[in-house]
Amino acid sequence: MLKMMGRLCFAHKTALAPMVRVGTLPMRLLALDYGADIVYCEVRMDIYTHTCHISVHLNTVDFVAPDERVMFRTCSKEKGRVVFQMGTADPERALVVAKLVENDVAAVDVNMGCPKEYSTKGGMGSALLSDPEKIEAILSTLVNGISKPVTCKIRILSTLEDTVNLVKRIEKTGVAAIAVHGRMKEERPRHPVHCDYIQAVAESVSIPVIANGGSSDIVKTFEDIEKFRAAAGASSVMLARAAMWNPSIFRQQGALSVEEVMEDYIRYVSDTTAAYFIRSGMNYGNNYEVFGMTDFYNKTKAELEARKAALQTNGDQTEQPTHEDDLITMPVRFERRDYPPQITPKMYLLEWSRKEKLDQPVYETEQRTQDRAFQSTVIIDNKKYRSALWEKSKKFAEQAAAIVCLRTLGLPEGRIGEEHSGLVNKRKRDDKKCAALDDSESAARKRHTSEVPQEEEEEMICRTKVVNGVCGQTTR
Ligand SMILES: Cc1cc2nc3c(=O)[nH]c(=O)nc-3n(C[C@H](O)[C@H](O)[C@H](O)COP(=O)(O)O)c2cc1C
Repeated sequence: MLKMMGRLCFAHKTALAPMVRVGTLPMRLLALDYGADIVYCEVRMDIYTHTCHISVHLNTVDFVAPDERVMFRTCSKEKGRVVFQMGTADPERALVVAKLVENDVAAVDVNMGCPKEYSTKGGMGSALLSDPEKIEAILSTLVNGISKPVTCKIRILSTLEDTVNLVKRIEKTGVAAIAVHGRMKEERPRHPVHCDYIQAVAESVSIPVIANGGSSDIVKTFEDIEKFRAAAGASSVMLARAAMWNPSIFRQQGALSVEEVMEDYIRYVSDTTAAYFIRSGMNYGNNYEVFGMTDFYNKTKAELEARKAALQTNGDQTEQPTHEDDLITMPVRFERRDYPPQITPKMYLLEWSRKEKLDQPVYETEQRTQDRAFQSTVIIDNKKYRSALWEKSKKFAEQAAAIVCLRTLGLPEGRIGEEHSGLVNKRKRDDKKCAALDDSESAARKRHTSEVPQEEEEEMICRTKVVNGVCGQTTR
């Protein structure tokens, strides 16, 4: 019962369908603004997403592949209503992807309708429709493995009987809903949608059925959405092309002009690419001038720069620590460029522990097997501090843990622009005097890496273990 609380419900809803290259974050946010209840992202193949790391920016959460391509971008505004659609033919890999995204999405969907060769040759998309055992394995693994609802999107089979038998098997896996594109895999968008098949499916299962495929034949206006739902006898409706042509189709008060929609779209593009927009330092003003949006550009740029400066000075006020027994967590990330060379939060924490005559901080690091990401916990003064976000390197994970500790305790962490405590610099001056006395320590202090100064690393206690794998422990 607890598992059901707060979960996205698929009954009596209107959804933006998954659409490659169309269903990006700005489009999804627009559809939600205009009245869609649920938005699906474009299909993402498990082979590209299972090794993604999560990168949090000013306004977005990005799932970034090892080659730095952003595979999925989302934000808090859509969190309770976005469905992540994946292409998969492998239950275990599907679960890795689902676990990676589950905290940032409302549900996970499996694509079982894509007829394109890039899907079917790997046994994905509509190829799954002729392999019900594989369907059952994937869906059951997901349903049992994650806490969010799992759904699938199918095409109809060549007979009504086969289609109904398949959806009955699918329902038994525990999925929360089935989206049915009322065309067979050989049929193209010009072929009429088979509302009778969708209706038969809706009558044969007790979970919500989401009717899809009505864009060219039936749905031209907001009122047509209800006509399509009724013709298909379904609980909900999902729109692809009608929304691609004009996402304000979801607007009860009537569609807006394409020009108005474009302006709204550009605003969301600016918002959701804010981190790059500011970080690149490039002037995009000319692009906005073309659309007569220069004022908007200047205002947005000023707002984002002010926000970035505030974050650097004060820390993100949205980063509230969560306390659980003796463990304190916060979603923070270590960004190297935010600190001067040779200065790190770990150094600041070590200096503070010395000043307070505490035992020095101990770092324990776990590595996740599915994406090899790291998460560290720093233990100091009998309390544990950890970032809720996983990092791609152990060093960064330790720095993130140190930041959580320093921010929780209200201590300086050495960031550029932060008021200086002088702690670390003083220590460095003292160290220079000691160096003359201790040649071996001096040698260690000369080693540097591009990521983290080596000198203080040498002095800290770090342990690493691999989660769900071989457990190795090192103490330095
Ligand atoms: C540009 C485009 C991209 C699509 N990408 C996906 C996709 O990523 N996943 C998927 O399940 N279906 C995809 N589809 C199919 C649609 O979700 C939908 O099933 C189909 O267009 C029929 O719905 P409609 O009549 O409302 O357009 C795509 C369709 C279009 C037009």
